Amino acid sequence: MSLLQVIDITHAYASSRLFRRMQRQTAVLSGVSLSIEHGQCLGLLGTSGAGKSTLGKVILGLEKPQKGQVLFQGIDLYHADTTARKRLRRDLQVVFQDCYSSVNPRMTVEQIIAEPLQNYEILSTQELKRTIGELLERVGLNPDHSRKYPHQFSGGQLQRINIARAIALKPKLIVLDEAVSSLDMVTQAHILSLLKELKSSFGLSYLFITHDIKAAYSISDSLAFMEKGEIVERMDDKSQLLSSNHAAVKSLVGSVLSEHPRNRTLKA
Ligand SMILES: Nc1ncnc2c1ncn2[C@@H]1O[C@H](COP(=O)(O)OP(=O)(O)OP(=O)(O)O)[C@@H](O)[C@H]1O
Ligand SMILES: [Mg+2]
Repeated sequence: MSLLQVIDITHAYASSRLFRRMQRQTAVLSGVSLSIEHGQCLGLLGTSGAGKSTLGKVILGLEKPQKGQVLFQGIDLYHADTTARKRLRRDLQVVFQDCYSSVNPRMTVEQIIAEPLQNYEILSTQELKRTIGELLERVGLNPDHSRKYPHQFSGGQLQRINIARAIALKPKLIVLDEAVSSLDMVTQAHILSLLKELKSSFGLSYLFITHDIKAAYSISDSLAFMEKGEIVERMDDKSQLLSSNHAAVKSLVGSVLSEHPRNRTLKA
């Protein structure tokens, strides 16, 4: 059984509540299906407005779709009872692009990482402190940082803190929505290698949402391309990327390949 199965999702946002009758806008997602296997990373690519983040929210249980199903470990996310849903939410975490607005600026790093742990686990003060220290070390930060506030960190360091919070409950799937997009190239490479390392040591699965085909290629096992709310191309093996005939995929690949055909390898 796949870890995650998204089956025929169609979704439109509700238009302004100022209208007497709530109306639905045109569909943002139309008949979207995909699956993610245990320990695998699916890279979800597409132009701005294609519906990638909306699909991410549907998968996280944050935006109930009008039609279709989200099965997580075989359980229907939107029809599970409260207890099952709480358990599913623990296994499903998210890291967003904007690392600063993802955290409460008035909370210390310790409080930020403690939040999910306190919601789901009963830990003594000492156990909590030790767990937070271990998590900070796991993401390459000094545990002494735990008393500091978000504004005292760089974007890359803060994204490591967001990752520490996301892995605190040992989830099964993390939705990474443009999680490295606002970082400089060097920091991006460091965070990508941290994510790869966590994936293999914890058996994590990722939905890696991005515009950046290089980043997606570097971390993903399989790839899916979205256009206007639909999955237009799906590759179970990312090595099929150069042989795709789809115009949107070719144009994305073309934008990062070398000018000279002799140098056209994605590894380069
Ligand atoms: N909360 C919302 N209410 C109404 N419309 C929305 C809402 N969120 C997104 N949309 C619309 O849904 C469409 C898809 O948006 P979405 O954010 O899913 O795209 P995206 O592929 O993630 O884009 P980007 O790459 O720019 O992040 C867009 O037309 C957007 O304007
Ligand atoms: Mg988005």
